[in-house]
Formats: sequence, C-alpha cells, structure tokens
Amino acid sequence: MKIKVRRYHPHFEPKSIYMDYDIEPGKTLLENLNLIKERKDATLTFLQGCRSGVCGSCAVRVNEKEVLACAYEPKDGDVIEPLSVLDVIRDLVVDMNGSLKTLKRAQAYLHTNSGAVMSEEDERLIQRQSDCILCHSCYSSCPVFETNGNFLGPFALSRAYRYVADVRESDKKDIIDAVVKDGIYDCTLCGNCTEVCPMGIDPKNDILMLQSWASRFGYTNPNMGSFGSFGLEF
Ligand code: SF4
Ligand code: SF4
Ligand code: FES
Repeated sequence: MKIKVRRYHPHFEPKSIYMDYDIEPGKTLLENLNLIKERKDATLTFLQGCRSGVCGSCAVRVNEKEVLACAYEPKDGDVIEPLSVLDVIRDLVVDMNGSLKTLKRAQAYLHTNSGAVMSEEDERLIQRQSDCILCHSCYSSCPVFETNGNFLGPFALSRAYRYVADVRESDKKDIIDAVVKDGIYDCTLCGNCTEVCPMGIDPKNDILMLQSWASRFGYTNPNMGSFGSFGLEF
C-alpha cells in the first residue's frame, strides 16, 4: 500500500512536490508518518502531540477532507496534504497563529460574571463548544476564507456563542457586537465546518444561534434584503 504526501519547503525549487511512500496496514496515518520519518525520510515534517485525538495538533487533509492523522487509518492511494487556507510552513505543518487571534477578535471569553448559578441543563448547552481542540479542521474546510481572510471563522464564532449562551455572562451584547463584522453574516451556512469537526461541534448551528441573538440586539441580516430582488416577501 502506498500514500502520496505533499512535501513543501520554502527554499527548494519547486517548493512543493508529491512523494510516494509505502505504508503498513492496521496502523494510523500518524503511526505511518512516524515510521516513514524513522525509517525512510527523516526530513518529513508534521505535528503531533497526544496521539489520541485530544490535542488537535495532527490535523491534515486526506483526499481533500480534514482528518486527525492519529484517528485515521490510511488506504492505498490516499493523498495527504496540509490543512487548506492557512500558510504552509513545512510539509504538513501550517501556521495557526493568525486564526488563533480570531478568538480575541471575537471576544470569545467571559466578560462580566453576573454570579448566576448554572444548572446542569445550562452547563449541557455550552459543553459541546467547550470541547474544541483547536485542530483548525473547520477553518481549512471553510470556503469563505478564500475570499475574506479576515473572516472570524467557525471555531471563534462557535466559542463566542458558547459565552453568549453562558447564563453567567451579563455583557452578551459586547460579544455580539464583536462578531458582526467579518463574522456571523459572512458565513454561507454551507455546513462544511460541522461536517469535518472531530469533536462533534456544530459551528454552523452556533452561527445561526448568534444571528438569532444579534436580532435581539437590533441587528438585521444584510443578506436577507437581497431576496427582495427575486420578488420574495417576508
Ligand atoms: S458554515 Fe459558515 S463557518 Fe462553516 S464552513 Fe460554511 S461558511 Fe464557513
Ligand atoms: S470546532 Fe471542531 S474542527 Fe473546529 S477547531 Fe474546534 S475541534 Fe477542530
Ligand atoms: S496527535 Fe493529538 S489529536 Fe492527533
């Protein structure tokens, strides 16, 4: 069995090539990448941490679909590439710094704690978003980034919703104000992010929930007006 791995080096010409490697069946992609590195090509560069689907560092694309390398068993002919949209540093390693800054721009944190006591149901409602392992798979799958590099994107918006939905947060409007520009109304609701998330988080739904909260604070979806040109009435 063989896989193709996209190699990238900023100082080589060509910078990017695809190389074939033999793999061993019954092992994860990450185990196979480690075997390739140990036995065949020490220069192969990739990220790893927990090796058990917890740290989010090993996300790559296989046949153009985002997966955690430590949770995926490769098949003959698979094409392995780095995450999309983000700048490639070397081989399968991408620069995540820019997208991590979106958490700050989205103000995805508790602003003012009202002291309200959370019920078990309150906790359950924000538990899923808190499970994010920052693997960046959702960013890689998001088509909006191709046209707007400033888009806040799925995990920052999902995390922002987690705090808007937190019963202890008494400054919900501040968070909503932060996610309107390059945020909740730029999303096309394609659902790619939800489909690829290894933690079962649903950023598309969280963005819809943020839109609903935004309407409570007087915002209207600018995209809804365009339906008027097709003669639709609401
Ligand atoms: S649903 Fe929105 S945030 Fe998610 S991938 Fe599609 S455009 Fe991006
Ligand atoms: S929301 Fe899911 S896909 Fe996106 S970074 Fe978090 S764990 Fe990864
Ligand atoms: S190595 Fe931690 S999620 Fe894969």
